[in-house]
Amino acid sequence: MDGQDVKILAIESSCDETAAAVVVNGRDVRSNIISSQIDIHTLYGGVVPEIASRKHIERISQVTAGALEAAEMTLDDIDAIAVTYGPGLVGALLVGVAQAKAIAYAKKLPLIGVHHIEGHISANYIENKELEPPFLCLVVSGGHTHLVNVVDYGVYKVLGRTRDDAAGEAFDKAARAIGLGYPGGPKIEKASYRGNAEAILFPRAKVGGSEYDFSFSGLKSAVLNYLNGCRMKGIEIVPEDVAASFQKAVIDVLVDNAMRAVDQHHAERFAIAGGVASNGVLRNSMAAACRERGVEFYHPSPVLCTDNAAMIGTAAYYDYLAGKRDDWTLNAVPNLRLESV
Ligand code: KG4
Ligand code: ZN
Repeated sequence: MDGQDVKILAIESSCDETAAAVVVNGRDVRSNIISSQIDIHTLYGGVVPEIASRKHIERISQVTAGALEAAEMTLDDIDAIAVTYGPGLVGALLVGVAQAKAIAYAKKLPLIGVHHIEGHISANYIENKELEPPFLCLVVSGGHTHLVNVVDYGVYKVLGRTRDDAAGEAFDKAARAIGLGYPGGPKIEKASYRGNAEAILFPRAKVGGSEYDFSFSGLKSAVLNYLNGCRMKGIEIVPEDVAASFQKAVIDVLVDNAMRAVDQHHAERFAIAGGVASNGVLRNSMAAACRERGVEFYHPSPVLCTDNAAMIGTAAYYDYLAGKRDDWTLNAVPNLRLESV
């Protein structure tokens, strides 16, 4: 390590993970500490915003100190503080923003606010050192489903987005209906390996108007209708078949839209990001579709797909190089749009 290196301490608290990381020169992750609240929210079947904020307050200092310690650094080694400032739960975001501002102010360090989705996209840079823009990226998480043209570092054009539920939200709601519990994505994936994806034909929604937009609320209703119909007619429900068939319906739509964009934009590189990108069946389907086209396919490891602070540090590095700095007016923006960055 020399004086030219840029060492960023990054903080992420937009939903139910309290996370901090130290990232050197954008792609060298020295530490990545994630304190998950999943066990607590599982009791309620989903994230309870008020509880999330309180838990972030309890844990943020320890997680931040843990990230520095694991990186074998102190705040004196750090060149900039990065933090997710939106989109997300306002009370949860505020905890990270307040922590980042306090450290930056006390240590007279530059402060960089990062868009959460920009973080998810940037997770792809960490393990794929050769990946550079331009490329297309499908961001599929609990709160977002965005098909993005990554034109350059920090320059994004959103080609399509969900009109209603996010892909991860659909997984969570379907899992709840099937009785698999929370969080739904990993539970549905696990069950799907023991089920028949052709057992039930669920709808593949096409959205009028925009060729790259998504809609998953109809699929959720179709799952509920199927389950109710079975119960009324006394037909046995095979949860694994429902899980596998539902998952296939989601993945078919994601692959279809993404590959239409790849073809029409003559993209040479395609990436996936966000919590749902840790789904093995989705990865394999996307990898196969890219292989057919001779397109290079990228995805982060599962731990970098779900919420983490390393991806925020990576995104912040390119903002840092571009001279982007925030001041003490930086605030949580729960509905921050990607194209505003
Ligand atoms: O990116 P993330 O951690 O948080 C948000 O920014 O929303 O994504 C969480 C979402 C949840 O909806 C969860 O069910 C989904 O990602 N997820 C999965 C899998 N692992 C997590 N969905 C499908 N398959 C998985 N293996
Ligand atoms: Zn996320």
